[in-house]
Amino acid sequence: MTGGRLSRRSALGLIGAAGAVGVTGGFAAGAARDDDAEPQESVVPFHGKHQSGITTRVQQHLYFASFDMTSTATREDLKSLLADWTDAAARLTQGREVTTEGATGGGPYKPPDDTGEALGLEPNALTITFGFGPTLFAADRFGLEKKRPKELVELPSFAFELLEDRFSGGDLCIQACADDPQVAVHAIRNLSRIAFGRAQVRWTQLGYGRTSTTSKSQSTPRNLFGFKDGTANVFSNDDSDLATWVWADGSDQPWLAGGSFLVARKIQMLIESWDRVRLEEQEAIVGRDKGRGAPLSGGSEFTEPDFDVVSTAARGPAIPMDSHVRLAHPTQNGGARMLRRGYNYVEGNNDLGQLNAGLFFLAFVRSPEQFVGVQRSLAKDSLNEYIRHIGSAIFAVPGGIRAGESIGSGLF
Ligand code: HEM
Repeated sequence: MTGGRLSRRSALGLIGAAGAVGVTGGFAAGAARDDDAEPQESVVPFHGKHQSGITTRVQQHLYFASFDMTSTATREDLKSLLADWTDAAARLTQGREVTTEGATGGGPYKPPDDTGEALGLEPNALTITFGFGPTLFAADRFGLEKKRPKELVELPSFAFELLEDRFSGGDLCIQACADDPQVAVHAIRNLSRIAFGRAQVRWTQLGYGRTSTTSKSQSTPRNLFGFKDGTANVFSNDDSDLATWVWADGSDQPWLAGGSFLVARKIQMLIESWDRVRLEEQEAIVGRDKGRGAPLSGGSEFTEPDFDVVSTAARGPAIPMDSHVRLAHPTQNGGARMLRRGYNYVEGNNDLGQLNAGLFFLAFVRSPEQFVGVQRSLAKDSLNEYIRHIGSAIFAVPGGIRAGESIGSGLF
């Protein structure tokens, strides 16, 4: 990596922008806005009021890692790890190599220099976002019991989930997003190496193909069911929505001011079953048309759904009572909204030749209750026949920092 020249789109992208999950044949694809038509920044500032990677334009690739502190790690180890991670993240996001210079070290272990696989690549809008899991604040660990935000507790169990430990939980998380997968992987790899002896990877998730937007000027991508995803989101240009639904004000824990809560759910999608469902039925399950992403009550992609419209063809509500969009909509959930920032994943296939694929759902919320309420409402979702939640984690995401500060320094 070298200093931040302005942008060229990644040549290494596995699957590109919206429309790459092709929609052809029986229905008209909506006119996709081309991300390339907009200048794409290559370097995203690391310092600021909020951490980057939340309202930042959604990059094409994700590598997400959940870490556990080692059983022998001390409070000092945690503190030095966060300082070293901050230093490395500030370098990586600005296109500089990782170096041991300035690292506070973790006992006898000296963090290694950069691993090199991103040499020559631009930062590709790399953002690195840190979060703290509930277990980090447990009694008898790092003396942080009193620093735990009240709402930072494990999520309750939900209908239809089949959670696996190997995709769930964690003391710490790092979300690395970039327009080049090599850059995102390089970041997590180096941060994991720096953690050696203090924290170890618990699970990771590679995501390709964003499934959301944080701005209406970015085209809406598609998820692996072929539907536009991210049409109704909390957008980065709406400060009032962000203050209401995303940013914590720090009244509970001052270190959380300007931060948020991050809910991560690994959701397996039963692709082969879905692909056998008729188009009209798929649309009824989602509540939007597949080509344009318009609500079934009429209009175009960004028309608000009208849940009172009746369809003679459907002999009932145009947007069915058990459709995903109706049940997830704020009107069904006390107004609750969330900033969704998830990614598609594909991880080979099982012995029957079926794809291991799905959505790595990521949502930033001011209060985990926003997610909990919507997820409970989705117990009646007809989409449940085609998806399984198999992983789950929650993290408190501290606010942004100024140059010279360390992420999470307010914890100590
Ligand atoms: C909307 C797909 C899981 C919350 C949508 C839309 C699609 C979709 C196609 C319509 C376009 C849009 O507005 O973005 C999926 C799929 C899922 C999934 C395939 C699982 C594999 C979830 C989960 C939640 C959620 C777990 C939260 C608990 C929402 C919300 C909306 C939405 C809040 C916007 C509703 C509105 O305001 O109109 N989803 N979704 N989704 N989804 Fe999901």
